[in-house]
Amino acid sequence: MIGCALQMLILALLLPHPARMTRALDWSQSSDVLLCHADLQQCGASAAVAKNSRNILDITHTLREDLPIWLGEDGLGRITAPVLSMSRGDVANLSELKLDSVHTGTHVDAPGHFVQEFYEEGPDVARLDLNILVGPVLLVDAPRDTNLTAQALASLHIPPGVERIIFRTLNTDRRLMWKTAFDSSYVGLTTDGAEWIVTQTKIRFIGIDYLSIAAYIDLVPAHQVLLKKKLILVEGLNLDDVDMGLYIMHCLPLKLMQAEGCPIRCILTT
Ligand SMILES: *[C@@H]1O[C@H](CO)[C@@H](O)[C@H](O)[C@H]1NC(C)=O
Ligand SMILES: *[C@@H]1O[C@H](CO)[C@@H](O)[C@H](O)[C@H]1NC(C)=O
Repeated sequence: MIGCALQMLILALLLPHPARMTRALDWSQSSDVLLCHADLQQCGASAAVAKNSRNILDITHTLREDLPIWLGEDGLGRITAPVLSMSRGDVANLSELKLDSVHTGTHVDAPGHFVQEFYEEGPDVARLDLNILVGPVLLVDAPRDTNLTAQALASLHIPPGVERIIFRTLNTDRRLMWKTAFDSSYVGLTTDGAEWIVTQTKIRFIGIDYLSIAAYIDLVPAHQVLLKKKLILVEGLNLDDVDMGLYIMHCLPLKLMQAEGCPIRCILTT
């Protein structure tokens, strides 16, 4: 336990952007938070922290017209259109909803996205394990001069108990989610980075700040490595105004049957 807290402290000292660490974390509780599972009642002191907290950080991007979409030049466009409109004399406003794909904006990838047998047996997004999508999460700043390779990940000294991690990367600095045209030079996991995660850590959840967890050059193999192990991936997070540190995360997918992805609302509490 003490070793773990110490590692967290070292992690805090080594990571870039110390100026962003304005939120004082109680490192003495960090190992408890990291080791406890989604059931907050098992988390002892950390549960009390979460319960009393009113500080909610929304890390979801709004589905807006100029939001970038995968490989698209012109962004998402309008996703609602009026069917009934009070201004036209209808009794109510009623809109239809049309998304580009289920992988739009801040969204989750279910294992069936790249693994055929999981698509057939589930878990589709309706059956994703909420025990993984809700619980303590570590938000870390990734090195800015590299993709998320095994070497870059090892340099972060992620404490061994961590099950959920969110990487803030150069993508946030470059404001890529605010640029309408898709940009394939975003930072993501390389295949060896993905392999490092599934072999060297207990991580079950990974979040990132652009539309794919995997770097463009390793798009398919890196996704396959993670999804074969049924990790849950959330992409397109808005990490503009969040400090690195330890949070309680709630990510709730839409309950869509037979969908291998869907928009998701993610919040952090302190
Ligand atoms: C909803 O109602 C208002 C007031 O009538 C109207 O101005 C607006 O266009 C309506 N919106 C939609 C989506 O129909
Ligand atoms: C990350 O990889 C992409 C290709 O997928 C590349 O265009 C980009 O320059 C790399 N970023 C860094 C910081 O190395």
